[in-house]
Amino acid sequence: MATARLKLSSAGKKAQQELSEAQIAVHWKEEEYYKPSKKFIAQANLSSPALVKKFSEKNFPACFNHYAEMLDWDKPWRKTLDTSNPPFWKWFVGGKLNACYNCVDRHLPKYKNKAAIIFVPEPENEAATVITYQELYKRVNETAALLRDFAGLKTGDRVTIHMPMIPELPITMLACARLGVVHSVVFGGFSGEACGLRAADSGSRVLIYADGYWRNGKWVDHKPGADIAVQTAKKEGQDVDKVLVWKRYAGKYGSETPMIMGRDYFIDDVLKDYRGQIVPPVSQDAEAPLFLMYTSGTTGKPKGCQHRTGGYLAYATGTAKYYQDIHPEDVYWCMADIGWITGHSYIVYGPLALAATGILYEGVPQFPDAGRPWRIAERHDVNIFHTSPTAIRMLRKAGGDEPKKYSYHFKHMTTVGEPIEPEVWLWYYHVVGKREAVIVDTWWQTENGGFLCSTKPALDRMKPGSAGPGVLGIFPTIWDENREEVKAGSGRAGNICIRNPWPGIMQTIWGDPDRFVNQYYKKYNRHPHSKDWRDWPYYAADGAVLAADGYFRILGRVDDVINVAGHRLGTKEVESACLTVPEVAEAAVVPVVDEVKGRVPAVYISLKPGVPPDKSVQDKVSSAIETMIGKIARPKSIHIVPDMPKTRSGKIMRRVLAAISNRMDTGDITTLANPDIVEQIRQLVQGRKLGPLKEGPEDIKRFGQEA
Ligand code: WTA
Repeated sequence: MATARLKLSSAGKKAQQELSEAQIAVHWKEEEYYKPSKKFIAQANLSSPALVKKFSEKNFPACFNHYAEMLDWDKPWRKTLDTSNPPFWKWFVGGKLNACYNCVDRHLPKYKNKAAIIFVPEPENEAATVITYQELYKRVNETAALLRDFAGLKTGDRVTIHMPMIPELPITMLACARLGVVHSVVFGGFSGEACGLRAADSGSRVLIYADGYWRNGKWVDHKPGADIAVQTAKKEGQDVDKVLVWKRYAGKYGSETPMIMGRDYFIDDVLKDYRGQIVPPVSQDAEAPLFLMYTSGTTGKPKGCQHRTGGYLAYATGTAKYYQDIHPEDVYWCMADIGWITGHSYIVYGPLALAATGILYEGVPQFPDAGRPWRIAERHDVNIFHTSPTAIRMLRKAGGDEPKKYSYHFKHMTTVGEPIEPEVWLWYYHVVGKREAVIVDTWWQTENGGFLCSTKPALDRMKPGSAGPGVLGIFPTIWDENREEVKAGSGRAGNICIRNPWPGIMQTIWGDPDRFVNQYYKKYNRHPHSKDWRDWPYYAADGAVLAADGYFRILGRVDDVINVAGHRLGTKEVESACLTVPEVAEAAVVPVVDEVKGRVPAVYISLKPGVPPDKSVQDKVSSAIETMIGKIARPKSIHIVPDMPKTRSGKIMRRVLAAISNRMDTGDITTLANPDIVEQIRQLVQGRKLGPLKEGPEDIKRFGQEA
């Protein structure tokens, strides 16, 4: 339906009366602009319009040499961009470098005694630990020696890392990078099963774990997940022969589960044999894969986004320098988890390549109270802060006045991961940023390596709720379903695409190049045999509008992905988990608006004949989701329905269920095979009395349009 509306209006066809433009138009109040302070501008890394000009379209792709030049290369590249096999681009061809060397070794002459990582444990009575660049160098080398000589890992092997936010996580990643071993970090909050599936897909025979960690005041015993992960991987045909376990408190094992003889080893014990060892960084081809990061897509199986060494590192470094304004003197804190792409690019690789000092915080932001982040900022004199709209909403709700009690001063703040509502932006600006900090609202994705849209912090005005223009060297556009350009200022929504390749874009989907092409390039490619990059725009699967000022406002996913608290969840993944419960016949998962988390999943299930609709089934479904994916996927509600609304060809109309869950208009349901079911489900979910219908956000209106 939403698609039909878009098609009709973009083609300028008739039916204006019943399908008025207003139905697909997005009505925002245009927000006022905010300007960066003179003080910020005076010290900013990106302050020269000449540099911006260097990145103009006519200088593409050579403009990106500027980012690559921020790194140390063992061998210079011959060619900036090779487009001979679209859309499998090659960046900085012929160049050789090592990512770990660039993040650690090269800083030693100038910064060896400077803090690289300040680890802040969640328990407030536990002191922070400072790891200098010198200490980081030693620890990474010893770990690399262990991975090479004890675990037998070689360049090109994959390793799955399932760890919480402790310094040993970036140390392990950097040790892998030093050896050219491809790391695949799985978010610590995911279940053992989820980790095992990813380990199997990547072909990892070594799993790196931690015993446990603190979260929200509780000790989480993490290690049991390793046993489940190994079993799950085995079921998928992948043997894991070593599990290496870091202890949160060296010398003290914090898990209840036994170590399995001959399979499990404590890293801190084994490390004693590698004390003081130095491992030469392996000189890697610019195109050698650096890491995999699994993310949700439109199928039940998460995909391994494969990122390259040279292009990725150059892009993360360049964007961190110019858009986050990181200088070596700054103290930078990104509250994301390293298990997500934000943590990879903007906790580990970008900031460390720039010799930053970064805070690594173990726990949840509001523990033990909503003042915690501001106490951390005050104590460590943090001046660059980076978080998500969900965390901002949560902190505002839990303690809207807390920031005022602490004397920290941010010069710069980032928001990422979800659309930020203007009123939430304003609280971030006035209260958290104390009107001193510039804000960048950065839009990008796991697949992209680094920011795609953002204002330039010292050069552009900020507009609450809008990400801004494409970043340096990125040329976005909005197309409708007919590939007609949706013009700036038209107020219409469409699909945001990037017209050009860039160094941070993933190389491929691990083991599935066809899916890579189909998912991101097929939609707007008109000449499948073309060798011209202009024929291969990147389709992001996000809806957006473009204002007359050239600022993009991102509306959210247009595919089957739900963005829960800034974390990507595939509806199909959740549905597959539901279907493992034997009583369940059909399952459909839809997004519901949530005041704090942005979106949360609601589950609809229908049961097999003869199964009574009682709570025990709901409980089974809920625990299946938690076991197979993790707590973040926990649904807001599980509705047992007599049948699903379906098209005549038998497809479940998730759009209708999403409308019901969000009290929105269900739109035209006359084409359904079973239109009567809609009212039954509505009463079941909303009760007999129909409250006022809501207009509803654009992503939910468009939900399921691709299905
Ligand atoms: C959403 C996170 C609005 C978007 C870096 C995208 C955003 C998905 C923004 C990617 C933003 C990210 N404004 N929406 N500033 N940033 N998104 O892969 O829907 O975890 O497609 O990468 O988050 O999520 P992912």
